[in-house]
Parts: sequence; C-alpha cells; structure tokens
Amino acid sequence: VPSSIRKICCIGAGYVGGPTMAMIAKQCPHIEVHVVDINAARIAQWNSDELPVYEPGLLEVVSECRGRNLHFSTEVDSAIAEAEMIFISVNTPTKHFGVGAGRAANLEFIEKCARKIAEVARGHKIVVEKSTLPVRTAQAIKTILAGVSTGATFDVLSNPEFLAEGTAIEDLLMPDRVLIGGESQSAIDALVEVYANWVPPERLLTTNLWSSELSKLTANAFLAQRVSSINSISALCEATEADVDEVAAAIGMDSRIGPKFLKASVGFGGSCFQKDILNLVYLCEYFRLPEVAEYWEQVVKMNDYQKSRFVSRIVRTLFNTVSDKKIAIWGFAFKKDTNDTRESAAIYVCRDLLRERAKLSIYDPRVSPEHIRRELTDAMRNGDAELNATSAKLLAENVEIVSDIHVASSDAHAVALLTEWDEFREADFQRIHDGMKKPAFLFDGRNLLKDMSLSDYGFDYHGIGFSS
Ligand code: NAD
Ligand code: UGA
Repeated sequence: VPSSIRKICCIGAGYVGGPTMAMIAKQCPHIEVHVVDINAARIAQWNSDELPVYEPGLLEVVSECRGRNLHFSTEVDSAIAEAEMIFISVNTPTKHFGVGAGRAANLEFIEKCARKIAEVARGHKIVVEKSTLPVRTAQAIKTILAGVSTGATFDVLSNPEFLAEGTAIEDLLMPDRVLIGGESQSAIDALVEVYANWVPPERLLTTNLWSSELSKLTANAFLAQRVSSINSISALCEATEADVDEVAAAIGMDSRIGPKFLKASVGFGGSCFQKDILNLVYLCEYFRLPEVAEYWEQVVKMNDYQKSRFVSRIVRTLFNTVSDKKIAIWGFAFKKDTNDTRESAAIYVCRDLLRERAKLSIYDPRVSPEHIRRELTDAMRNGDAELNATSAKLLAENVEIVSDIHVASSDAHAVALLTEWDEFREADFQRIHDGMKKPAFLFDGRNLLKDMSLSDYGFDYHGIGFSS
C-alpha cells in the first residue's frame, strides 16, 4: 500500500515509542522513522545491542531496520521539523505533587512536547497522541498548537497503544485492533494508510477523538478489574477450600466471560494499570461523578489488599515473625519477559518484609541489581526526601541481590516467588529444599509451581487462592 506519509518522528524512546516505531519501520520500508528522546543515555542504548527495553524479538526487529529507515537520536528539533507526522510517546506518570496528587496524570511532558512542536514546526503536521492520556487532552494540545505565529497548521489524532510488555512484538505485529480517533478525515486516512501496510482493514477502527482517548483508559480499567475480581475471589477460596484456578477455568468457559486475564496473582503491577485507573478516578471526580470514581477506585484498593494479604500470609505462616529470617525472592519484574519493574508487586512485598526485619536475597533474570536497589530505596523512602536511619540500615544490611535462585534460597526460611519466569520451573528443587531451613516454606505468588508436586520434595507449599 503506498503511503503518503514519508517521514515520521516519535518523541519518547521508551517501552512504547521504541518498539512501536521499530515495528512501523519494519513494516513500512518506504517511511523514514526517527525516534528522539531528551535522555541521551537511553538513545545510546537504542543505538547499541543492549537495548534499554527487554522484549522478546525486539532486538531482531531493531537490528533489521536501524540505520536503514529507523533512527534514534536526541535531535528533537530537526526530527520534528522534517517529519510530516509526529507521535508523542512520552511518559504520563501519576502526579505526585499539587492538585490531583496521587491520582491525576502528570501532563507536563506532553505539554512540553506540544510547545516544542509549536515552536519548531513549519507547514502542516499531523500530531498523534500515542501516550495514554486523560480524555480531552487533545483539546489542550490543539489550543497550544493553535497559538503559533509561524503559520504552521496541525491536525491532532489519538492513537493509543494496546501492547503489553513481554509480548510487545507479537501484539504490534497482530494487534486485536488499532484505534485512531480524530476530526480531520485526511489526517485519519494518512495514519490508517501507515498501519494498512500490515494490519488487516477490519482491525483498523476509527472514532472521534474523545472516544479514542477514553477507550484506552477504559480498556486498562476493565483488564485490571478482571485481575482484581479474580484476586478478590482468591481470598474467599483460601477460606473455603475452593480453588481459584478451577473457578477461573469454570467461569472462563462461559463465552460471555472468556478465559483471559483471570489468573490470580500476588497483584497486578506495571506502569499503567494503577496509573490509568487513578487517572480515570480523578477524571470522574473532576466531572462530578463521585459514584463512578468510587467504583473504579476499588480495583486499586483490592490490588493493594492482595499484595498486603500475601505478606501477611508469609508472616503468619512463619510463626508470626520473619525478623532476621532469610527469605529468597524469586523474580522482581512486574511480569515475565520484561526488565520493567514499575509498580511491580515485588517492590511492595519486599518493602513490607523489610519492615518486618526480614533478610532478603533477591534474584531476577532480567533486572539489574542497581535497578532493584533503586526501586527498594524509593519504596522505603515512602515519599520522603530522605531515608530514615532504620530504613537505610535495613537496605544496607538486609538486602542482597544475587545471580541465581540457588544462592538466593540457600539457608532461607522461605521462598517467595513473585514473577512467573519460565526458568523457575526448571529449578533443582531437591537441591533447593535440602539447602533451606526446615520447614522449607515456598509461597508462590503466581501459582507457577502448583502442578509440580513440591510437597514431594518436602516443601511446605502455599499458592494464591487455594488452601494447602
Ligand atoms: P517511558 O518512561 O519508558 O518512556 C518515555 C520516554 O519519553 C522517556 O525515555 C523520556 O525520557 C522521554 N521524554 C519525556 N519527556 C520528553 C520530552 N519533552 N522530549 C523528548 N523525550 C521525552 O514510558 P512508556 O512506558 O514508553 O510509556 C509512554 C506512554 O505510553 C505512557 O503514556 C504510557 O501510559 C503509555 N503506554 C505504555 C505502555 C507500556 O506497556 N509501557 C503500553 C501502552 C501505553
Ligand atoms: C497492560 C495491558 O495489557 C496492555 O493492553 C496495555 O497497553 C498496557 O497495560 C499499558 O497501557 O501499559 P502490561 O501492563 O504491559 O499491559 O502487562 P499485562 O499483561 O496487562 O499485565 C499487567 C499486570 O497484571 C502484570 O503484573 C501481570 O502479572 C498481572 N496479571 C495479568 C495478573 O495478575 N493476572 C492476569 O490474569 C493478567
């Protein structure tokens, strides 16, 4: 399909901007794709073989296109000036200060991009919201762009991204749908043409701007709601000898419910679910819909409950104290096949175990030790600028990060499995059991090892949503 767009720029080379643009470059060799970021270290990584994002299959796609029609640089101004279409894919984290703190999305980076585009652009540009944004953000972007005195003109589209980390490449290759919201038909058509290079026409959905913006928050809210719903049932299962995986299988066979996203766990993590639901809650409050706000807020509360319930269960089972006991932490990423730890349940489980004075030995196959330490330090800081003396001591003396699960588990009173990495199923369980203190407790926050008869090795095995 010939595309009228020849040059694309993407501002933000993160988990979304990098993989998404790599896929466009792969599927559209006739389009020059330039990904820019103000973070020079991140750009240097994109230009190396140690990409800043770990995603199965990503390095292959990047290697195929980089230097051909895919470029990474910090040249924000010139990339904007040259492109006909500009994607904004910067981060939109939860605001932690001022009005809406703890709920609203921080749109500072989005606004900076809009102002930069307004300053640099000449001629006509199509500006595409790729970041997840509160509904009506396009209005603010349009207003900023309308203020230019250069004679430049703009169309604004919303094109939210639905990829999940760990499966980004397959999700981008075969998306369930690509959603494009806009006002100008020619701008919508131009973006449709780009995706039509590999996405079947029936999966290209166009809507008005606001529906598109709101659909993204709604999709994440519904997905997270399913996880919180099944996790709430997991608590009831533990009290009643029902088994949450059996319940999930039974309800999932109802075609109206469907089998996906019903895996009970230690709690959902990731950079978006919590942020996007809180954003939705904030929007509902802003538009004076307190009942709707409260309804969605419960999804996040249930998730917090699930994480703290997991820690309580460990403490209770270990005879009501974990003080000075070594606990092996298997996995720190928020799900398998990613190096991303943002809002990972592991952060909160580790923080709470540390506050109970446990000694943690942590292993994750993809997350660097420095990164784990940084996350735990931030969590122990608890929003304060400075670490208090107790937290600093606990971090220094009670946390070690090791390079395999056997070292982590040696002499441990318990294992807490927090990420469902495939390799954990390949462990030498007899060796691990023999090296642990007895009774050897294993708390499986993912029910990853549930079918492996761990009690035959002597483990006292506990999972989510069934009584052991
Ligand atoms: P990220 O933090 O990994 O990447 C954002 C990048 O934008 C950073 O590298 C940052 O340096 C850069 N940036 C910020 N301000 C900039 C500016 N003014 N100029 C140039 N670069 C700038 O974030 P992400 O995970 O890629 O998420 C980006 C957006 O996509 C968010 O709105 C998120 O909600 C949404 N989203 C994320 C996912 C996901 O799986 N991570 C999936 C769908 C949607
Ligand atoms: C999620 C959505 O699935 C994507 O469609 C969306 O684009 C993205 O958020 C986003 O906007 O950032 P992601 O967070 O990368 O993707 O990963 P998910 O597979 O959705 O998992 C999120 C969390 O829920 C993980 O911690 C995962 O372990 C947990 N989860 C997921 C469960 O506990 N049970 C499940 O059944 C499914």
